[in-house]
Amino acid sequence: MNNDAILLEVSRLVTAFETETGSVRAVDDVSFQVHEGETLGIVGESGCGKSVTALSIMRLLPKPAGKILEGGVYFRGTDLTRLAAEEMRAFRGRHIAMIFQEPMTALNPVHRIGKQIGEVFKLHQNRLSDADIQHNIIEMLNKVGIPDPERRLIEYPHQLSGGMRQRVMIAMALALRPDILIADEPTTALDVTIQAQILDLMKTLQQENAMAMIFITHDLGVIADICDEVVVMYAGTVVESAPVRELFAHPEHPYTRGLLESIPRLETLRKSRLSVIPGMVPPLDALPSGCRFRNRCPLSRPLCETVSPELKIAGDRHQVRCHLTPLTQHHHISTRPSCLN
Ligand SMILES: Nc1ncnc2c1ncn2[C@@H]1O[C@H](COP(=O)(O)OP(=O)(O)O)[C@@H](O)[C@H]1O
Ligand SMILES: [Mg+2]
Repeated sequence: MNNDAILLEVSRLVTAFETETGSVRAVDDVSFQVHEGETLGIVGESGCGKSVTALSIMRLLPKPAGKILEGGVYFRGTDLTRLAAEEMRAFRGRHIAMIFQEPMTALNPVHRIGKQIGEVFKLHQNRLSDADIQHNIIEMLNKVGIPDPERRLIEYPHQLSGGMRQRVMIAMALALRPDILIADEPTTALDVTIQAQILDLMKTLQQENAMAMIFITHDLGVIADICDEVVVMYAGTVVESAPVRELFAHPEHPYTRGLLESIPRLETLRKSRLSVIPGMVPPLDALPSGCRFRNRCPLSRPLCETVSPELKIAGDRHQVRCHLTPLTQHHHISTRPSCLN
């Protein structure tokens, strides 16, 4: 497979919600590319627009409040935003599938899990016999590491542990061998050991199926393990993007640096508090002027208050939205009194 080929391209995407106080842009001019068979990580704190980006790609935004206002989502050149609803429905599952943070919201509590996985096959491959479907269900449950699948498939979602439920979700998402899987914080609700098992499983399945993936998380530590490329989002925009090694070796945006410092390390695990970025992601109807990160940024200067930074090239496939790039030149500023800036 040609790994340089672009499978999915999100181009200048703008997604807005109609609220009582007006329209807010939850995703504001976001672009990135996913290559065939590769994993792109999207990272950022809660409220940065990660899920809205994913739901825009899937065309599963809550209706009628959520709308794609501008931009395109190109799958091997086809703009998904322009497909008829019926065409998009056929596209989902077969080409592009998604798993969510909380599997209970996506599983139907009143149906046995075998039936729910079977529905995926029935919806998309109506020529399969019941025996074929049964065979496929058991094969999928085996693949995702669910022991004793013949017995499990007659159980209901509440009879499974959180980790087992997430495995069922993965089985449903991968049933039709999609070209790309969007995983929106798939391990956030699980405890740490189960989290590691699910990540391993996803990596293995991805390699076996030569599938691309968009992996969404608020934890940069998880990104290092699983991603080829990383997009860092802040307040609905991309603030930095780079190949994973480059991002960890040469983080440029002060926000990325803050996220990296908040990853627990062996030395810091003993301390009671991790370094976290002070403050919160601003609400969309009260974004600061200029740079959206500036009121939390230790390096903020007067320019940052008035001018919104554009994405700049910071290296090979490395882009940064910061006036101070390259940051190394300015790093000492943080220790100087602000009157000298
Ligand atoms: N249905 C909705 N109506 C209005 N605003 C929404 C809706 N869903 C999400 N948002 C807003 O969009 C922004 C991004 O949300 P989201 O993509 O869920 O963030 P993340 O997944 O990064 O935590 C947030 O400010 C959130 O409040
Ligand atoms: Mg989310």
